[in-house]
Amino acid sequence: MIQILDKIFHLTNGDFSYSFYVKEGKLYHSYFGKALTVSEEIATQSVLGRGLLINCGRDAAQFEMPESGRGDFRVPAAVVRSEKTISADFTYCGYEILPTKPNFGMPSLRDGGETLKITLKDDVLNAEMYLYYTVFENGLARRSEIKNLGKSVLYLDKLSSACVEFPKGRYDLIGLNGRWGRECNIVRAAATCGVKTFSSVRGVTSHQHNPFVTVAEYSAGEENGEVFGLNLIYSGNFEIECESDEKSQLRVNIGAKIMHGGIALGKGEIFSSPEAVIVYSDCGLGGMSRKFHRLYRKNLINPAFADKIRPVVVNSWESCYFDFNEDKLLKFIDGAKGLGIDTVVLDDGWFGRRDNDTSSLGDWFIDKNKLPHGLDPLISRCKKHSLKFGIWFEPEAVNPDSEMYKAHPDWALKTDGREGIRMRNQFTLDFSRAEVVDSVFKMMSEILSSYDISYVKWDMNRPLSDVVSAEKYLGFVKGVYSLYEKLTKAFPDVLIEGCSSGGGRFDPAMLYYSPMIWTSDDTDAFERAHVQYGASLCYPLQTLSNHVSVCPNHQTGRTLSFHTRGAIASLGCLGYELNVAEISEEERKQIAEQTALYRKDAEVILKGDLYRLISPFENGVFCEEVVSEDKSKAYVVFMRGLNVCNMPLERVRLKGLDATAMYYVKEKNVKCTGADLMYGGLCLEVYGEDFGAEILHIERTEN
Ligand code: DGJ
Repeated sequence: MIQILDKIFHLTNGDFSYSFYVKEGKLYHSYFGKALTVSEEIATQSVLGRGLLINCGRDAAQFEMPESGRGDFRVPAAVVRSEKTISADFTYCGYEILPTKPNFGMPSLRDGGETLKITLKDDVLNAEMYLYYTVFENGLARRSEIKNLGKSVLYLDKLSSACVEFPKGRYDLIGLNGRWGRECNIVRAAATCGVKTFSSVRGVTSHQHNPFVTVAEYSAGEENGEVFGLNLIYSGNFEIECESDEKSQLRVNIGAKIMHGGIALGKGEIFSSPEAVIVYSDCGLGGMSRKFHRLYRKNLINPAFADKIRPVVVNSWESCYFDFNEDKLLKFIDGAKGLGIDTVVLDDGWFGRRDNDTSSLGDWFIDKNKLPHGLDPLISRCKKHSLKFGIWFEPEAVNPDSEMYKAHPDWALKTDGREGIRMRNQFTLDFSRAEVVDSVFKMMSEILSSYDISYVKWDMNRPLSDVVSAEKYLGFVKGVYSLYEKLTKAFPDVLIEGCSSGGGRFDPAMLYYSPMIWTSDDTDAFERAHVQYGASLCYPLQTLSNHVSVCPNHQTGRTLSFHTRGAIASLGCLGYELNVAEISEEERKQIAEQTALYRKDAEVILKGDLYRLISPFENGVFCEEVVSEDKSKAYVVFMRGLNVCNMPLERVRLKGLDATAMYYVKEKNVKCTGADLMYGGLCLEVYGEDFGAEILHIERTEN
């Protein structure tokens, strides 16, 4: 709901209130937090009161979109220059309420209703700024635009999608930081005086820093306290700046990072920032995650898949790498029969003459040496076993050793006069050029329309280098989105699994097109528990693609039980990454059991509310619970850590159940109330194999 009273803007969904107001032409932020529940008039007035108390001068003011060079010396959200000046000073012109959230050509939250559009103007720069706000059931979407009204060029160094100002307080900042094989570590630190920045300048989202931050009251925990989550729907360079000032006020700017030299805006040109998502919770990090998850399931993820149970796949990568031929793959497909697997995915190595990672990216035609009869025999064999078929692409990449590169060396991102930097022996294509995107689309469609393919794994194995301008960085990202648009339109039933050397591109813009993303190349269940736990801070379980792989694990060399590997992988989209043609009868039995069980539980796991009960980051012990929206079922995975002598039992107190209802805990064969399970808890055995896991099924029952 959008309430407007005498230049005070109050946005609320009944759960949070977000408010700002106009004073002497400037837009000041005044409140973000739990919904103000009193009458409309009083609510907006009390909001105004809070604002006036804080905003005595520009130096310490809380602005809605702070600029540089006009008396506010903290980190600005908008930096615009002209020939005349390097300062900006936009003042309020008016507002409009748009009936629906406008489309602006980039992925953003779907099905947004009434949208508040604020117009600001700077007469000296001769530019207008537009701020957009849409309230959703579970959060707020914000973005901004700048339009050059004059004849001379404007230079845009920064335009944050949103700035959120927090009043004097003690805050912690929580980010998701990582590296290849160990994405999404939760890093929490006090927002002490100064600027803390989370950012990626890799041209893509990166393993290192996710476009996500949580501002938490210092005492907030997993299920208590106020927390505010910000996430950017963007897959390129980004910047989240958090400045705690001399009065312990905190300013957070979130947006795309415009690189060196800025963006030049000619007459009439508009720059649109990507959209930021802002979520409020007064139930700690868990409450925030559940809101992000609901919001993304309902308003972000491709609706063709958001409500569907994902297929259980077996992927060829760790069993074959590049070393396969038709015969080996047919055996692999035969091996997948009878295991409850839905789809066989052929990973890297099927195209050009790709026997290793030095060649052929860009040559999206079948390698007849490996597959002399094309994909037909493989797909027919899949059909015979009622399996579907999926295939791997890395659309944005080209190897110098490829036919594509020989024919079009200028298609790779490069600076004239310099050797391009190679990473994994490859260059990145200049996707800011429509003809490059079109040509890749043509090659991919040729494969997708010639064969019955239901699944694509879209990989991207290097960050950008040799980018010649700030515009190219943005153009590249828009080019990626345009290829996604074309593919999802032309092949609406094909499920695209996102991937970037594991989870290097886990961001909401990717989720807009790819309903699931390969969470990490590290499939060791103990390691994965950490990555999945971290990713779930913002991203729903239905987006985490998790595979059970062979042991000793290819990344860590560790051996964990098949049961533990299955239990951890089941907390998301379950799949397999092992040679089903060569596994033992015992393992086949276990896969069949796991997939059968998963099919029964998938509705709850993929669409339920997540409660993180024990964090592996603390002592290696892990426990997560998913509860169906109607609270009738819960699914719990517990993994003990290293076996330690004389450990106390682990008391796990469940959450999210109906306190008065009776529940049956299948594996313990006990009946008790929701209250017993939530307040008394279950005592779980910590003795046993290192990292042994338990799965518990809890179902509402009659008394
Ligand atoms: C990186 C991915 O994360 C892997 O799963 C696999 O697809 C390889 N690329 C293939 O090159």
